[in-house]
Amino acid sequence: MLAALPVAGFSTGPRDRLRLARVPADPFTLGVASGDPSPDGAVIWTRLAPNPLADDGFGGMPAQPVDVDWEVAADERFSRVEQRGTITATPESAHSVHVELAGLRPAADYFYRFRAAGYLSTAGRTRTAPDPGSLTPMTMCVASCSNYEQGWFTAYRRLAEEHPDLVVHLGDYHYEYAGRDGGVRRHVGPETATLANYRQRYAQYKTDSDLQAAHAAAPWLVVFDDHELANNWAGDVPDTPQPAFGVRRAAALRAYYENMPLRRSAMPTGAGMQLYRRVPWGDLATFHMLDTRQYRTDQACGDRTRTDCVERRDPSATMTGAEQERWLLNGFQQSRARWDVLGQQVFFSQMDLTPGPARTYNPDAWDGYTANRDRIVAGIVNSPVRNAVMLTGDIHSHWAAEVHQRFADPASPVVATELVTTSISSGGDGSDVAADTAAVLSENPHIRYFSGRRGYVRARVTAGEIRADFRIVPVVSRPGGQVHTGATFGIPDRAPVLHSL
Ligand SMILES: [Fe+2]
Repeated sequence: MLAALPVAGFSTGPRDRLRLARVPADPFTLGVASGDPSPDGAVIWTRLAPNPLADDGFGGMPAQPVDVDWEVAADERFSRVEQRGTITATPESAHSVHVELAGLRPAADYFYRFRAAGYLSTAGRTRTAPDPGSLTPMTMCVASCSNYEQGWFTAYRRLAEEHPDLVVHLGDYHYEYAGRDGGVRRHVGPETATLANYRQRYAQYKTDSDLQAAHAAAPWLVVFDDHELANNWAGDVPDTPQPAFGVRRAAALRAYYENMPLRRSAMPTGAGMQLYRRVPWGDLATFHMLDTRQYRTDQACGDRTRTDCVERRDPSATMTGAEQERWLLNGFQQSRARWDVLGQQVFFSQMDLTPGPARTYNPDAWDGYTANRDRIVAGIVNSPVRNAVMLTGDIHSHWAAEVHQRFADPASPVVATELVTTSISSGGDGSDVAADTAAVLSENPHIRYFSGRRGYVRARVTAGEIRADFRIVPVVSRPGGQVHTGATFGIPDRAPVLHSL
């Protein structure tokens, strides 16, 4: 990878030099990223921040627009540049830039980089999606939950070393909490509440070289969970009462857009943003990326994990909102993919947390919204969907599960599979088993695997099967942890069960 150097690698006119004159130092401290690939393009992203930890969230940039040149090449040395252009980074977007590439070849690797103020960014690799009709195999890595204080981002580094075609990130990209002592590192600033706070927090995370390597390795499909705003928020409702939550929510969504490789269609408008979307990968896979926070009704049962309560079966309780649910069920009806993959945040399968006849559920997960879940499961069954796979994050542990048509009836058919990725670092080193693991697994026979270590899921997707490796990085309390596979499951085409390999 190329280092950031003050070189004149691009042609630059006099107007550009004038506008760039006041950038005080190398502005490429936050790396580069790409995302949402299509058969002819992707989004490429960077953000200028010569002083990334500045309290005002502006990263040390002057309050004026700055032109940023970009180029895309077919080779890592940029000897075959295929496209270049200039985009203006403005203070209104914290000097972030999103370039939507078009006109590229399908199923091809590309390399991209940026130049501003005479400085050159590192180079990133992206990959376009295949054309419709293609069943060419691909490898994806699935990640979630990177807490900067609780561990080194070694799992992001190991993920980058896998050279995946695609990274699916399921949220908790950062955490909102104020700096606390006792971790491996410390958050700057207070608990994030203002736009400046969120911008500063993203900048701090993005200075991490392991995270930068993961972004530079492949295009990402991102969705947020709760901590990109605040713990366990649901729609307009915060977990704990607070003034002006709407203002905080708008700030968090704006900073999220600014810092993620998302298309313009996701740019926040007013209090919301359009995050749920479909991303096809030829005829091999369609990714339905879900937003399970913006349209949620408040968690049932007081959002406290406790003995079963009837509210969680309220037909009007919804994780997706009615419009997104219709959009998802429509997508199932139009499915032509070998694999329909739901990229979403919280545990989809039923999980009774208490051994014995008593039942306890987590109301922040789909167990708190069972009618919504039942309608989605029915939508899969009553559609051309050939294979459905849920990808899940949130709970800082690896799980593999089989989704029954009716969880109340363990004899009902298995209609989908669920792969739950552990955290990148949240929770620290963790352990292979938790105190209640054996009880939870025996209480829930459709749940087939657990690991309480850090890591990610790597999945090889082919026309005939998905082969999922639960990758484990046992040590994140110090740098340099290695990775190994904790378990491998095969999911055959047209047979949604988990085969332990
Ligand atoms: Fe998390």
